Amino acid sequence: MRLVTARLLLRVLDRGASLSRLLPAGLAALAPRDRPLAQALLYGTLRRYHRYRPLLDRYLRRPPRPRDRLVAALLLIGFEQLAALDVPAHAAVHATVAAARLGGFPWAAGLVNAVLRRFQREGRETLERLAREDEEVAWNHPRWLIERLRADWPDHWQAILAGNDAPPPLVLRVNRTRSTPDAYRERLAASGIEARTLPAYPDALWLPDPVPVERLPGFESGLCSVQDGAAQLAAPLLDPQPGERVLDACAAPGGKTAHLLEKQPRLGHLLALDREAHRAREIERTLARLGLRAELRVADAGRPEAWWDGTPFDRILLDAPCSATGVIRRHPDIKVLRRATDLERLTETQDRLLEALWPLLRPGGRLLYCTCSVLRCENQARIAAFLARHPEARALPPRHPDGLTDATGMQMLPVRNPDRAPAPDGFYHALIEKEPQA
Ligand SMILES: C[S@@+](CC[C@H](N)C(=O)[O-])C[C@H]1O[C@@H](n2cnc3c(N)ncnc32)[C@H](O)[C@@H]1O
Repeated sequence: MRLVTARLLLRVLDRGASLSRLLPAGLAALAPRDRPLAQALLYGTLRRYHRYRPLLDRYLRRPPRPRDRLVAALLLIGFEQLAALDVPAHAAVHATVAAARLGGFPWAAGLVNAVLRRFQREGRETLERLAREDEEVAWNHPRWLIERLRADWPDHWQAILAGNDAPPPLVLRVNRTRSTPDAYRERLAASGIEARTLPAYPDALWLPDPVPVERLPGFESGLCSVQDGAAQLAAPLLDPQPGERVLDACAAPGGKTAHLLEKQPRLGHLLALDREAHRAREIERTLARLGLRAELRVADAGRPEAWWDGTPFDRILLDAPCSATGVIRRHPDIKVLRRATDLERLTETQDRLLEALWPLLRPGGRLLYCTCSVLRCENQARIAAFLARHPEARALPPRHPDGLTDATGMQMLPVRNPDRAPAPDGFYHALIEKEPQA
């Protein structure tokens, strides 16, 4: 199990694969009883990667050669077992040493044993010392992101960094075409699952003690979906009316597509696009489970000439590709996968999509731009620049108890409000209306 886990970890660290794409097949290769520990090891090691990585420099005489990277990965998951998981120390060391042998590195068995025993003896003090010397260790994030957050959110950056390392809450969206939050909460209670309504998120239920979705009554038949409260604001903000034509331009896996249809079952037409065919199939599965229908197309939203029939849309949702820096607590691999250099490409794409879709909106229509980013360059700066280029566009900045509203839109930060729980995902919403005479 540890060998398979270390190989999966290397695919994230060295080949830039994302955990959510790797895990289904990766875990299927393991015995069911081993899967929870493998998953916990992967998430935990990536969550604390910036803390553990400098230990390799300290404990190894020279950096591992490319062909020995698996040994480094085994050490990283060894640190996680000893520092954060409930695995007895001797079993953790023994099994990790055995995995080195099994993986074809018999020469490394002694090394893995010595390093993990040293970590067991002095790891805590070493980490404390490293944290005093190195901001990446202290904040457990890459330096570029710490610097960006400090510049973007001088009053909140520390809370954002801490929030990114907190366990993510399990929030459900109740399918309003089938049930209500109160009724579904009672069904959950009958199954022994506690749920609380969240007044600021009218379709949501929060499960203070998360359970696997398979335990949620009626999940497979579409009574509810898993979706953070912040993402549940998109459909009500876009607020499509009966009979309207709606475009969901970047729709996979279909969370917001489904919510739009649940909120407004009498929509005229909903076209859901995604550029990636395998992701578009997820929209199909989402809608089928929930008993909803939309027109689906695999297409580049930035090239409407290939898919638009020329009839304007009343509402457009642009849930743009972004750094996903608002959902690090759910996807800790983002800390190692994302680079500062990605931002230029992402912001160019965001501008390109906004420009390509704006002409498709009817005069008087509304476009909702959103991202799961907490970086101003992808959010406030994109919309400010768009508004400056388009005098016929008017911002209608949303307001919400968990949001920070400015002239462009509303930012949510993954930071717990002391009066409420849980903290929302980091998210940005900007609602823009096209002048009726445009
Ligand atoms: C943030 S995710 C969308 C999440 C989705 N709205 C939901 O609520 O479930 C962004 C999606 O945009 C898609 N995408 C990226 N560039 C695109 C483009 N040019 N045209 C269409 N889809 C695109 C990605 O494949 C990805 O599925």
